[in-house]
Amino acid sequence: MISQLNIMNTRVLTGITTTGTPHLGNYAGAIRPSIQASTRPDVDAFYFMADYHALIKCEDPARIARSRLEIAATWLAAGLDPERVTFYRQSDIPEIPELCWMLCCVTAKGLMNRAHAYKAAVDQNIARNVEEDDGITMGLFSYPVLMAADILMFNANKVPVGRDQIQHLEMARDIAQRFNHLYGKGEALFVLPEVQVDDDVATLPGLDGRKMSKSYDNTIPLFEGGSEAMRAAVMRIVTDSRGPGEPKDAEGSHLYTLYRAFASAEQSAAFKQALEEGMAWGEAKKQLCDRIDAEIGPMRERYAEYMARPDRIEDILQAGAEKARRLAVPFMERLREAVGLRRQVAPAPRADQQEVKARSKPARFVSFRDADGRFRFRLIAGDGTELLLSEPFADPKAAGGAIKSLQQPNALQILGQEAAGRVVVSLDGQRVAEFEAERLPQVRAALASMAE
Ligand code: TRP
Repeated sequence: MISQLNIMNTRVLTGITTTGTPHLGNYAGAIRPSIQASTRPDVDAFYFMADYHALIKCEDPARIARSRLEIAATWLAAGLDPERVTFYRQSDIPEIPELCWMLCCVTAKGLMNRAHAYKAAVDQNIARNVEEDDGITMGLFSYPVLMAADILMFNANKVPVGRDQIQHLEMARDIAQRFNHLYGKGEALFVLPEVQVDDDVATLPGLDGRKMSKSYDNTIPLFEGGSEAMRAAVMRIVTDSRGPGEPKDAEGSHLYTLYRAFASAEQSAAFKQALEEGMAWGEAKKQLCDRIDAEIGPMRERYAEYMARPDRIEDILQAGAEKARRLAVPFMERLREAVGLRRQVAPAPRADQQEVKARSKPARFVSFRDADGRFRFRLIAGDGTELLLSEPFADPKAAGGAIKSLQQPNALQILGQEAAGRVVVSLDGQRVAEFEAERLPQVRAALASMAE
């Protein structure tokens, strides 16, 4: 069923760039808390796959396609309820790039020059002694505008993101304010979104103890490769050289940090104590794997099921896009109007003309030559249904004459000679057409409308 959007609720929106395959750090840091937040009754969550953003970083179509699928399957397997959350793919909402262009037209280039991601790319070029903008696309440069469009399209109140995205939220507010000022005529077209950086969510350490990240190549896979791949990665976690029986510094080990992200307070305390009492690192790793599997195992099965049925994912995403567009389409209409791109409509007809139009609209005869070169006609109802098809006439005059006769007020009287559920139309003893008796009321109405 279609879930109702409650106006009083806080609209929370966030995008997931579809590059790469989700790892355990993504799960604990973003997927799990987002899904939890989406179950709150006072929240309307909008989670979408930012696949237009992915094009900025990746030019390999196969990887783009694969990542979109894996990420959708991951979120669904992890328990996201698409009935409750508006879960969609950015590229299924054509209003987003349309809005992006409108926003581009009010965004100062100087504002974009200051974006961290762009500046970092420029700095790298300077360090490499090449031209400042070398290899920098307009996609990368205007990325914050696209992100603003994502957010403003749905008038999100809160946008949970990582620290690296705070500046983009500030830019989205700037752009929204400027647009409101230019086109709002006193009313705010866009809500000013607020950034939400959650410092409580787990930032998982990777194999080497640094933040788990694809760019450090220190990740533990989430679902891909199954339990074996996860276990193989955990076995590669770097520990100190203390052997079995030697007391370990639990607080100082990232193995313990990882364990805590998947365990209750009691389980964590027991694990810590065991380490301090000399549990071997190998045993600790095994216990960590078991903990992860306890939470992830059932999801992994669902993940495999989704990945085996991409068509099911597609259906879910299409339903999500439909839900999202129920808001985006009318809002875009309003925005187009605000900037002066309103459709031209004919002046409203006078009431008396409207009436004539309504009455004279319906039925018509359409004549044509059939494949054998003979002349026939059809009677077409106002709504386009074919009511009857005539017999062939050798010459067009005869066909035209028949049409004329059928348009006479007395034509209605010729109808009604039913035989075996068919009505036969004859003129001067000649059979002109035949149609199903069921159609009789429609044919009568059509002919009556023409006779008037
Ligand atoms: N840029 C975000 C990131 O890299 C992803 C994203 C795209 C996003 N559009 C968004 C996040 C809109 C929040 C809102 O993490």
